Amino acid sequence: MNPTDDTRTASAIPPAPALRIPVDRLHAIVRAIWEQAGSAPREAELVADHLLAANLSGHDSHGVGMIPRYVESLRGGQLKLNLHAQVVRDAGAVLTLDGVKGFGQVVAYEAMERGIERAQKLGVCAVALRGAHHIGRIGHWAEQCARAGLVSFHFVNVAGDPLVAPFGGADRRIGTNPFCAAFPRAGRPPLVLDFATSTVAFGKARVAYNMGKQVPAGALIDHQGHATREPKVMLEAPFGSLTPFGGHKGFGLAAMCEIFAGALSGGYTTHADTVDHSRAIINCMLSVIIDPAAFDAPNAEAEADAFVEWVKASPLADGVERILAPGEPERATRAEREAHGVPVDPATWQQICAAAAAVGVPAQQVEAWSFD
Ligand SMILES: NC(=O)c1ccc[n+]([C@@H]2O[C@H](COP(=O)([O-])OP(=O)(O)OC[C@H]3O[C@@H](n4cnc5c(N)ncnc54)[C@H](O)[C@@H]3O)[C@@H](O)[C@H]2O)c1
Repeated sequence: MNPTDDTRTASAIPPAPALRIPVDRLHAIVRAIWEQAGSAPREAELVADHLLAANLSGHDSHGVGMIPRYVESLRGGQLKLNLHAQVVRDAGAVLTLDGVKGFGQVVAYEAMERGIERAQKLGVCAVALRGAHHIGRIGHWAEQCARAGLVSFHFVNVAGDPLVAPFGGADRRIGTNPFCAAFPRAGRPPLVLDFATSTVAFGKARVAYNMGKQVPAGALIDHQGHATREPKVMLEAPFGSLTPFGGHKGFGLAAMCEIFAGALSGGYTTHADTVDHSRAIINCMLSVIIDPAAFDAPNAEAEADAFVEWVKASPLADGVERILAPGEPERATRAEREAHGVPVDPATWQQICAAAAAVGVPAQQVEAWSFD
């Protein structure tokens, strides 16, 4: 890494880009930033693949807008470049890996590669990955498994980074702990369910705050535990909390994500000894990967299709245009953005350029990224 003076280089930041950036061009920019920061070409490529795929699926909270946060974590000495998932224990159908605070986009990819290979051989593999730097959009890992024809489900904790109150509680104790599950379909995109266990993602509260808007009712409580729609409680002291989705059920799922991912992996859960105020985001993930061909279920896909068709035939509720299966909204957004480019708002673009400058991307190169 070759850090430069942020203040000096900020003046070289080009004006806001066009509203849409072509996918290939944005991918090249992300690769250039991480190669300048010190990543090997393969690492830079995997990071770019992941961040772009998150934007393409419509989850901008986990796309290229994460670059400034990753640069802060790198400069703070938390994110480590060019590291690989380490096998801590190989028990056949159960693998324990350590992400050694390497790029999550690399170590989770490697964890899935190992789990896929083992599930293809044994029918099933449980992979526990601990201590990875942010692994981003979890659907990306389920899609990697689905491309190999495998079913998977993933429990994730955000170790030591509480933002969500327990059901009935009045302060932040749990991460936004995502859960994800995917069902592959031959020659067609998989069904992918992938969500944070908070009512709204933290990034959505931040966007509402920046835009001076309120969040949906029920999504937040203030520092005294009272319901509020003001997103500032997540960004200004005294801090409030996100609520778990679905009351006690969402809280229960978040708790099991915390325990399966944080405890079973040999990593850590969130509690008084582990709360971390650094800019790092540390994820642990338990993935269970299954070869559907190992079951005696030749009609599994046809049965899944029949079910999806059945629910889609439901009469529509007021204001609803159509019923969607898990993963359909992301696919529609992907098709639209592949055709028309990825929207990057001016503030995010400025932050990305400042982060690029901070890792030493020359001012002329950053200027050449201008999209006027
Ligand atoms: N790495 C981390 O620490 C971390 C933490 C939290 C969240 N995340 C990621 O953040 C992303 C966003 O999470 P979120 O909770 O905001 O997602 P969300 O609320 O947008 O829910 C997404 C899921 O719901 C489905 N869905 C959405 N609208 C639908 C509709 N109308 N009908 C049927 N299904 C529908 C989608 O296909 C998808 O499976 C996820 O990719 C998650 O993995 C990561």
